[in-house]
Amino acid sequence: KNISIIGVPSDYGQHRRGVDMGPSAIRYAGVVERLEALGYEVLDEGDIQVKKGNLIVEQNNKLLNLNDIIKISTELGNMVENVLNANRFPLVLGGDHSIAIGTLSGLAKRYKNLGVIWYDAHADLNTPETTPSGNIHGMPLAVCLGIGDDRLTEIGGFAPKIKPENIIIIGARSVDPGEKELIRKLGIKVYSMHEIDRLGMTKVMEESISYMLQRQVDGVHLSLDLDAIDPLYTPGVGTPVPGGITYRESHLAMEMLEEANIITSAEFVEVNPILDERNKTADTAVALMGSLFGEKLV
Ligand code: ARG
Ligand code: MN
Ligand code: MN
Ligand code: MN
Repeated sequence: KNISIIGVPSDYGQHRRGVDMGPSAIRYAGVVERLEALGYEVLDEGDIQVKKGNLIVEQNNKLLNLNDIIKISTELGNMVENVLNANRFPLVLGGDHSIAIGTLSGLAKRYKNLGVIWYDAHADLNTPETTPSGNIHGMPLAVCLGIGDDRLTEIGGFAPKIKPENIIIIGARSVDPGEKELIRKLGIKVYSMHEIDRLGMTKVMEESISYMLQRQVDGVHLSLDLDAIDPLYTPGVGTPVPGGITYRESHLAMEMLEEANIITSAEFVEVNPILDERNKTADTAVALMGSLFGEKLV
């Protein structure tokens, strides 16, 4: 596997500045060296161009910074498509979770029955009608399902990018009323913290992996929001929620995905070094990437 790293220094999907420095923090935590040590050929493609400064904080806007997000998503989609065409594994570094709109638009050009594992405290299934914040990082999963504003759902020239029955959300514990309704209506598979506590992470991952195989997906994308993990281990995120997945459970999840050999692309998002403690969150992200790519003691 040849890996291409794509940085997306965007904080336009939410209100808290600093998440645009996520890619730098993750590089500083040693992502390239960590993956090279596992024997991969790693190419850092650099960052997607993101305009800095003059962030307008508008009132009563249900799609904050829409135009910047359209531009970034379009560029990222093209980049991911190029990386796939070069037969390389896309590893995308965020940036807030709105960047998934771009990642998935690139992936969907190649994969017609893509599976998505959404590892997150949130469902990110809001629409301009249901959003409590206007923040687009709370909407990317809905957008990829073709639900929401056309200017986002049609990025890349087609919608939807994924099917509801090919999605598994893991780690959910802060889900808005409109999102719950959508989960019920579309039958999206969710392992909330309740199921993780009850079944244990081993069972959750065994079931998730066989679900993907049953769905006969042609690829599986891991979209990992660092806020899925308990803020004890990942304090540097914009929307922390207590009661999250532990560090060890998360390593186990990554290791089981690696053993099953099903992941064909990944993104690690919401690392905000301004809110962090000595780069702990980026360090955790890189450690989890290590497990996802086969790091083991024996
Ligand atoms: N559900 C809330 C919202 O729509 C929070 C979303 C948090 N999303 C994230 N990617 N951290 O604003
Ligand atoms: Mn900024
Ligand atoms: Mn989240
Ligand atoms: Mn998220």
